[in-house]
Formats: sequence, structure tokens, C-alpha cells
Amino acid sequence: MDTNAHTSTSSDADAKSLAVGRRSVLGGAAVLGLGITAFGTTAHAAGAPSRSRNKAGRFQGKSVLITGGTSGIGRAAAKAFALEGAHVGFCGRRTELGRQVEREIRDAGGEATYVEADIRVEDQVRGFVDRVASRYGGIDVAFNNAGIGSGKLPHEMSVEEWDDVQATNARGVFLAIKYEIPHMLKAQRGVIICTSSSAAEQARPNSAAYTASKRAVQGLVKSAALAYGPKGIRVNALLPGTTDTPFVRPPGIPDPDWAKYKQAWGPLNVDGFERMAEAEEIARAVLGLASDDFPYMTGASISVDGGSTAGRRMIQPSRT
Ligand SMILES: NC(=O)c1ccc[n+]([C@@H]2O[C@H](COP(=O)([O-])OP(=O)(O)OC[C@H]3O[C@@H](n4cnc5c(N)ncnc54)[C@H](OP(=O)(O)O)[C@@H]3O)[C@@H](O)[C@H]2O)c1
Repeated sequence: MDTNAHTSTSSDADAKSLAVGRRSVLGGAAVLGLGITAFGTTAHAAGAPSRSRNKAGRFQGKSVLITGGTSGIGRAAAKAFALEGAHVGFCGRRTELGRQVEREIRDAGGEATYVEADIRVEDQVRGFVDRVASRYGGIDVAFNNAGIGSGKLPHEMSVEEWDDVQATNARGVFLAIKYEIPHMLKAQRGVIICTSSSAAEQARPNSAAYTASKRAVQGLVKSAALAYGPKGIRVNALLPGTTDTPFVRPPGIPDPDWAKYKQAWGPLNVDGFERMAEAEEIARAVLGLASDDFPYMTGASISVDGGSTAGRRMIQPSRT
């Protein structure tokens, strides 16, 4: 399995290029120009594990699949679903991190299985989805979340970079849906949540590839919602604002420096809450959307961005 093709621009980030500029950072950090730049429905399958001790929650015994669970929002969602009793199957390319998240969930009494899979590779996506479905007895909830950033002007971006962003963020979501849907059709129910971004709604000069990929996710979600609504399957897009994950945080930056940067960044960039989101806050929105509390919601794009796309603050020049 190819795990060497990790191309997330955030991991290439250079902490030195941090610059606090008003609205220099948008949802989807690598766009940011920062240089920061699981198993049924009722534990149904024969041989399905029943080791989860977290039984009090909304997702007890549910099978939850997450792409991109080794880090950030996906990792927070995997932990939150497991805490509420779900059996969580998640993927990512970084095996060590995947095993660590799996261990943390199991140590806390939850049930999770990490599968090494690259969302860009069809056979790996099919293998991942089918393994989660067979281990946990179907797929009740799918959180198609894996993504990478990109922060270059179109004329400075190679065709390979453009293709990689689309292959990960858009085609990867298509591949996940393609292989999740047959399992949900068998059960005649299911919930799919796909991670788009506030950057789908609010472009920046250097966000062409990222914004295009996240808009594609919204389009895919709308069409899939129409196709599978009659079959009892809900499909929605989540649009997080800038969230404190490795996607935006430069590697190696000390905690106090990062805290200081975040404090300065918030009021300049997020009209409304004037701060970055935490991954756990986005994960809570995912669980809400996946729960039975939104039975009539499908085809929607849900912004969870602290108000950053609601408006643009007017700063008046000095009259003196
Ligand atoms: N953080 C933000 O400000 C923000 C804002 C709006 C939207 N988003 C979106 O939220 C999602 C999660 O981002 P995050 O902030 O949690 O970033 P993150 O901490 O960098 O996590 C990204 C996740 O995606 C996985 N991934 C990337 N490429 C993959 C591939 N080819 N195959 C399988 N997994 C892959 C990574 O796993 P491996 O590296 O192990 O493969 C990792 O688990 C992304 O879609 C991102 O675009 C983030």
C-alpha cells in the first residue's frame, strides 16, 4: 500500500511564514496562505464485536465509517462517535497514527478499527468500506472527511497538484459514496456527511483548487441526496470554518506561540465568534447531523464556521 504519497500541503508548512493578516486565513487552512499553509446497525453481523463499554449514547451499536480519521476533525469525530457507543471504522494513510487513535478509543472502552487506505485509490476505498461493513454489520453512518489543502495561484500550480487536490477532496468523496451506498441500499437507510468547507462559499485568490474541490463536494451531495432520498438515505455537506488541526497549525510551533497566534487571528478573521473552531466542536456538529434529530434534512450545506461566512466586518479608515 502506498503511504508515501502524502501530499497534504499543511504537512509541508513552514511556521516561519505565519503572518497575521486580516482574513489571510479561511476555512481550509492550506488555502490559508499561512504557509501553515469501525461495525450493526444493531451489532447485527455474525461475529460482530461487542466490546464497546460506551453504551449510553445516541449511536450505540451503530456502524460508523470515517475517512481521514488519523488526525484533526476525523480523529475527533471517531472518538466522539465511539464515546456514544458506535463501532467506528476509519481510514487514513499514516498507519502509526491510525493505530494510535484505534488504541486510544479502545483504551477508553470504545470499539474502533483502523484500516490503512488511500482515498484516491479505488481498490483501497472499496476494501476499506467492505471491511468496515462486514466487521460491523453494514454502515449506518458515513463521514467522508479526508481532505488536503492547497494554497497556490492557478498559474503557479502544477497540473499534478491540481489533480491531487481534486483526486483527494472530490473524487475521494465520490469513491467513498460509490462503495458505501450499496451497503445502505441493502438496509434501506443510512446517513452520509461529507466535509466541504467554508472555502466553498468564500474563495481567496490562492484557493482555486481547494474551493473548486469543496464546491464539487456540495454538488455531489445535492445529487446523491436526490438519488438516494427515496431509499431512506440522507446525504448532507458540512462546511467547517477554520479549525485548529494540523491542517492549519504549522508543524513544530510551540503551544504558547500557537495560542498567541490564534488569539490575534480570531478577531481579524471570524466575524461572529472571533476565534478558530476546535476539532471537537466540528465533530459535535457531525454527530448532530448523523443523529435522528435531523430526519428531514438532506441535500443541505451546513455551515459551522462561527459566523465567518455570515458577513464581512467593515473597518472604517481613520478620518484624521
Ligand atoms: N482545519 C480546517 O481549517 C478545515 C476547514 C474547513 C474544512 N476542512 C476539511 O476538513 C477535513 C479534515 O481536515 P482536518 O482539518 O481534520 O485536517 P487534518 O488534521 O490534516 O486531517 C486530514 C485527514 O485526511 C486524511 N487524508 C488526507 N489525504 C488522504 C488520502 N489520500 N487518503 C486517506 N486519507 C487522507 C489524513 O490522513 P492521512 O494523512 O493519515 O492519510 C487525515 O486523517 C478536510 O476535508 C478539510 O478540507 C478543514
